[in-house]
Parts: sequence; structure tokens; C-alpha cells
Amino acid sequence: MCGIVGYIGRNDGVAVIVEGLKRLEYRGYDSAGVAMIGKDGKIAVVRCQGKIKELETRLEEQPLSGTVGIGHTRWATHGAPSDANAHPHRSGPFAVVHNGIIENYAELKEGLLAKGYEFTSETDTEVIVRLLEDQWKECNDYEESVRRVLRQLRGSYAVVFLNEQDPDVLVGARQESPLILGLGPDGHYFASDIPAILQHTRDVVLLDDGDVVFVTRDGYRVESLEGRARHPEVTVIDWNPIAAEKAGYKHFMQKEIFEQPRAIVDTLRSVVDLNREVLQVPELNLDAGLIGKIKKIYLVACGTSYHACLVGKYMLEGVCRVPVEVDLASEFRYRDPLLGEDALLIVVSQSGETADTRAALKEGMEKGAHCRAIVNVVGSSLARMAQGVLYTHAGPEIGVASTKAFTTQVVAFYLLALYWARTDGTLNQAGFSKYLKELLTLPRKLEEVLDRADVLRDWARHFRKVDHFLYLGRGILYPIALEGALKLKEISYVHAEGYAAGEMKHGPIALIDENMPVLVLAQKGDLYEKMLSNVQEVRARGGRVLAVVEGEPDPRLGEEAWQFTVPEAGKWLAPVVFSVPLQLLAYYVADLRGTDVDQPRNLAKSVTVE
Ligand code: F6R
Repeated sequence: MCGIVGYIGRNDGVAVIVEGLKRLEYRGYDSAGVAMIGKDGKIAVVRCQGKIKELETRLEEQPLSGTVGIGHTRWATHGAPSDANAHPHRSGPFAVVHNGIIENYAELKEGLLAKGYEFTSETDTEVIVRLLEDQWKECNDYEESVRRVLRQLRGSYAVVFLNEQDPDVLVGARQESPLILGLGPDGHYFASDIPAILQHTRDVVLLDDGDVVFVTRDGYRVESLEGRARHPEVTVIDWNPIAAEKAGYKHFMQKEIFEQPRAIVDTLRSVVDLNREVLQVPELNLDAGLIGKIKKIYLVACGTSYHACLVGKYMLEGVCRVPVEVDLASEFRYRDPLLGEDALLIVVSQSGETADTRAALKEGMEKGAHCRAIVNVVGSSLARMAQGVLYTHAGPEIGVASTKAFTTQVVAFYLLALYWARTDGTLNQAGFSKYLKELLTLPRKLEEVLDRADVLRDWARHFRKVDHFLYLGRGILYPIALEGALKLKEISYVHAEGYAAGEMKHGPIALIDENMPVLVLAQKGDLYEKMLSNVQEVRARGGRVLAVVEGEPDPRLGEEAWQFTVPEAGKWLAPVVFSVPLQLLAYYVADLRGTDVDQPRNLAKSVTVE
């Protein structure tokens, strides 16, 4: 994981880099650091364990200045969080920041130790910069030494180098870790992700694996490791810089929960022509011929995106009548999946950078499956690796706990199911229009739920001291029970389990007593009576019931039950309206317990290591 920023320009580089790092802090916050080339032409480094706030305090005590520099915020892999392991790392005239994992670092380190190099950290990154010094001593050519170093590294990296002997150039490179180049009027930028530089420019070059970039204040060159020139196009990012700000909300997560109606409108507008009632997904590269050939769909992702896939299975099987398998990306390739030309693999990811999901996509490509991606970040690795993309338009999601990315992923599956069924004729135009109308009313229904957020704050006040929660759902709401429990545990550190309600009597019922609140998702329809029976089972054992219920409150859920109503949104879209109260409950519990909501302990937003 980790976040990287590099700047070469005419402005105060420290301010640019520190601001950029703050916007990347979601990628890791174990330590942070900055290196600048000062007026004396020397590199000076300030770095420390802890968050960017700690770094800012250090910078007040030891101010840096300069117009060229690099910065880093770390999620520890090799070596514990500490000052010594914080980036940037130095060797001779060089400094480096790195995101990724160097698999052969031990071997490289041995060689360098044998040559007399000394190491001051436990990181794999220090090996990179020591090796750079070593190669430079051999060939006395900076560009050539960078290439030589990169050719020796195995694993993943995004790196940016600073060289006090050549202070007017910044060098960056990427291999399986994200890195973009920003082109602004006042300078050029490297960053791990778009929000870091959005304040300065929207013109970016999306770098590819194997790219090495040499950047000056006025120009840049992109080359391969062999020195062949590449001329990538400049992409203009349409995200508004304000979208990456808190805009008066206490936390990014809270803001992102409230942005969901807008995110859903943007996602549907991106593919639906509302006047003609036509849905087109040209970037997905999925035509009638291919749809006709597919015998099975595999949906693969991690964490919250995996829960979206579980919902997607219900939709695709239910609406399109095509068999779907769902896999955790971290398991998928190790089970030697039976993929071939008649399989469609769809990977799903907010960041588009998750290492396990990338590996799953690679597995699918190697096995000859048709591979597509549902992704939020334009130009991210998965978006570029896949043979077609359906973008969610959630905008930048900064809070580590995913909210608007999840609901837009669910909406993307709904749109995909409609497109598929309309294309292969399972759905006629009238049926399509009916489904589309349901989708168009969804944002307003979410507004209704959000308007009653205070009710969920009261729930949170009442239950904030509880240490265990059980979430129960059935059918398409079973994945929402899993997702609701994940949200609560990751940001409030309260233990929560999501279960299929029918499974309760096969084990978890043993846990139920007055100390174990049970949150049930009660969707009216086929499974409602069965859910009422499950509620009776909970009440009979003294369990306290919290119910999110569709339509009107229902006395059959129990006089003493806490009930929160959500509008009816139809069978397939109910997961979206049911998700929002669970996000709000998790948010308020976490806030009242005083946790770091946007950056919960031990987590990072973009998990780019396996
Ligand atoms: C939880 C959460 C994670 C991510 C997971 C996959 O709130 O955000 O579980 O969903 O790390 O990340 P992406 O979707 O970026 O591949």
C-alpha cells in the first residue's frame, strides 16, 4: 500500500507534498516523511512514525524548503512502524520513496552487505536506494543506474528518486503498484492516486508497468526499462477537487454516505440514455455475440467489493438466468478454477489496484476466459488490464471503509443485468423500462433514509457499549448482513457477525442472550414470514432485536424491537436501501466510541500487497 508524492516545480514543494500526502493517508498511516533538495543543493529528510500530523509537527521543529522533493505515507510491510523504517530512505546522493514489495530484497541485501554497505532500517526499500548508489558508482550515469536497479528488482514497486547531483530531475517508475504523473502549470507531480494532485491539475499521464519517467520542471520523458520511448496520452480527470474535501462533514465516511444518491445518479447516467431508454456499455466490450457464448460468469473481488459480487449473483442469475459463481480473490487462483473460453470473469474493485484481485484477473486471462472489470478509479491497473470496463461513478472515496463505492457497485450489477437480459432478449423493452423506472426512483429513496439519520444516531447512543452484534439477512439481503457487520467491525472495533438468518439455528443461536443485539434485515416478500420466525427464535432466547424493515413498522417483530423503516425499492434494489442504515449505524457507533473513523487501525484503503 503506502502513498507517494513527488514534486518538481516553482512553488513551495513541502506544502505541495504534505498536502498531497494528507490526501493519500487512507493508503497507510504508520509513518510519514519528506525529502527535499534545499538551497544548498543537499537532500534533507524529515520522517517519523505516526500520521501526517506527527510529520507536520516535526517539520515545524526542523523546517524544510525547496522546489523539488518526494514524500511518503507508509503502511508497514517489511519492518515495524518506526522512525528508522519511515521513508524516504537515503544512500549517497540519492533518496527514494517506494510503494510495493521487493520479493528478492534479502538476496540483493546480501550482495550489498558483502560489498560493505550498511543498512539502517529493516525495509526492502533501503535495498533499492543502496543498490542505486552501488550501480551509480559503477557506471557514473544516473539514468543508466536507475534502469540497472529496476531491472534487478522482483516484485512490485512504484518508486520516485531524488538525486542531489542532478537536482533538476525527478525519476519515477512503476511495476504492479500505482503511479501517475500530473502535468500542471506550476510544475509536475508524481502520485499514487489522483486526489493527491487534484488541487493542482486534472491532466495526468497514467503510467504503465515497466515505465520509467524522467521529469523536469518543463517536460517529461516516458521510457521502457530498455530505454525505448513511449508517448502515452494525457488523460483529463473529470473529478471535481472539492469532491476530495470533507465539505463541512466531520468525516469523509459520513460525507461519502450522504453522497450516495448523487453517486448512483452519476453511475446510471454514464450508461443510460434516459430519453431513448437505452443502455449502452461500449467500454465493457460485451456484445450479443459474446453474451450468447458465455456459459458461466465468475465474479471475483475482496472485502466489501466481494459482498457486492454476492448481490450481483442474485441479480444476474435472477434476471438473466445465467449461472454465476462468486469467489474471494485471495482464494480464486489457488483453487485452479475451471475457466475457459465460455467463461466470463468479472473482477470488482473500488481502487482498481487490489493485489489479490489483480492476480485473479491475471489467472482468468491466462486461462483464456473473457475478462472484464467493474472499477471506480479511471485508468487504475484493473481497468487497464481487463478487456473491458464498467465504471462506477462514485467519485473519490477517501474513508477507508467503503460506502458509496459499494452501493454504486450494486447499481453497476443491476445495470449489467439489465443490459445482458435486454441484449439476449430475456427482457423486452417494457420489462426494461419498468426496471429502469425502479432505478430512477432509488436516489430519492436513499434521500428519505438519509433524512432520518438521527434515528440511527439514537440507536448508536443506546448500543455503543455493546461488544458483539449479530446481523441476519436472507436472500439478496444476506450479503448486506455480511457487509453491515463488516462496516461495524472495521471502524468501531466491535465484534459483529453477518449470517444467513436460516443458518442461525445451526450454530450462532448459542450466542444469543440479552447481551447480543440481533439486527435483522426484513424485506417484505417471499422470505418475510421466515424472517419473522427467526425473530421469534431470537426473542425467545432473550435477544434484543433491531430491525430494518421495508415499508411500515410491523408489530410482529416484537413490541420491544427497535425498528427503522426503509422505502420499498423492489426485489433487486433493496440491497442498496438496506445498506445505508447499516453504514450510518456503524458510523455513529464508531464516532461515539471515539475511533479514527476514516483511518481505522491496521487498515489501508488500497491493499496493493497480497
Ligand atoms: C471495507 C473495504 C475493503 C475493500 C477491499 C477491496 O470497507 O473497503 O474490504 O472493499 O479491500 O478493495 P477494492 O474494492 O479497492 O478492491
